Amino acid sequence: MRAQTTKFPDMSDTDRYLLDYQKMAELEKQFGSSFYLLNMQKLRNNYKKINEAFKSRYDHFNIGYSYKTNYVPYLCKELDRLGAYAEVVSRLEYDLALRIGVRPEKIIFNGPVKTEEDIETALEHGSLLNIDSLYEIDYIKKYCLKNNHKLVKLGLRVNFDLCGAEKNILQEGYEISRFGLCVENGNFQYAVAELNKLANVQIAGLHAHFSTRERKVETYQLITKKLSRLAKEYIGEGLEYIDIGGGIFGELPASMQLQTPSFADYAEAVCSIMNAEFCDNEQKPYLILEPGISMVANVFSFAAKVLEVKKVQNQLFVLIDGSVHNIKPTMHKRNLPMQLIQQSPNRKEATGYHIVGYTCMEKDYLAHGVDGELPARGDYIMFENVGAYTIVFNPPFIKERPAIVAVDSGQFFGVRKKETLKEFVSEELYYFQR
Ligand SMILES: Cc1ncc(COP(=O)(O)O)c(C=O)c1O
Repeated sequence: MRAQTTKFPDMSDTDRYLLDYQKMAELEKQFGSSFYLLNMQKLRNNYKKINEAFKSRYDHFNIGYSYKTNYVPYLCKELDRLGAYAEVVSRLEYDLALRIGVRPEKIIFNGPVKTEEDIETALEHGSLLNIDSLYEIDYIKKYCLKNNHKLVKLGLRVNFDLCGAEKNILQEGYEISRFGLCVENGNFQYAVAELNKLANVQIAGLHAHFSTRERKVETYQLITKKLSRLAKEYIGEGLEYIDIGGGIFGELPASMQLQTPSFADYAEAVCSIMNAEFCDNEQKPYLILEPGISMVANVFSFAAKVLEVKKVQNQLFVLIDGSVHNIKPTMHKRNLPMQLIQQSPNRKEATGYHIVGYTCMEKDYLAHGVDGELPARGDYIMFENVGAYTIVFNPPFIKERPAIVAVDSGQFFGVRKKETLKEFVSEELYYFQR
């Protein structure tokens, strides 16, 4: 079955790094025959565009970059330098942010699972902590009793009915989200009441994140309005931030031919509500956005060498030194934008060939039904827009993880080495015998 046809090579985007064969061969010598390419200028551009879109409309604005989307340290460090907060959802990510050098006050600790020690650590360090479930309040109570002279600030992740009459707007078609404290069944109000019993607690923020299928501007209007109204009704004076989560569209390669809202569209919708809702506040609350995909998806490409072009019955398969795991771990069937970097030009055209990977799984297709110039042994294929939820999901399955090469001001340099057996099956983790 054909998922979708792709015209290949697809060179319609103007802001790509176009590499010639000689450069690719050089990079192969240094980093291996498949690697990720991280475009640092594009990362800075994304940060600036998102930040300016919101900050120009609402000055008290901060970006909390969603670590789980892609936590390559070099990238996170650059975002820290640019001014982003780190949004983390586990202790491992929290410790990584510290290791990268993020100041603890600039870490937002979200996520459904936190231990008593995680909560203590976040509060001790003065990080922004958003409670997701009622069990966390027991830990807060203990901490407050132990530290009864300290003002303990925290936020609450709120869950409310986002869908209304419109059903299944969440990703994967879910009707309700499982995260946060539900307003409709009173859990949110109960959490507020319990925390208000503690003399030294300040509820400083409200947080919501919904992963929706269509990432509509209207969804963000709704989230902002709901959080603002809840804050006014239940929090009042102590409110320091409204965190509307992530999930917005980033800039997509033109070849994907999708009409999506711009950063300015989201910013206009959200900031006009913030300005209207908090116009009477002496101290306006901060607005926090937690972009993941929109910050990093278009910042990475994945390059892999063509090893073979073979025919099985009447179908053509281009075998490369990469896997679907490297570029789309969810194995969706849409073809990504691609570039073909040929050893020698003007070779034959073909229709409906497939690009397949090194694993032994039948479903390891990096692209289906491609039309255009047929790659040949020794060429390279570069897949675009692979920065989100790839590297973090890329298990060392069958082959080692590839290198990550950054490009900045025309310079290419490694920011992750190609894995070796030593890291693949680390002897610090595994026992080879008793
Ligand atoms: C709490 C939270 N914030 C931010 C994000 C980032 O979302 P996206 O990568 O769609 O921007 C997620 C993703 O699931 C999330 O759970």
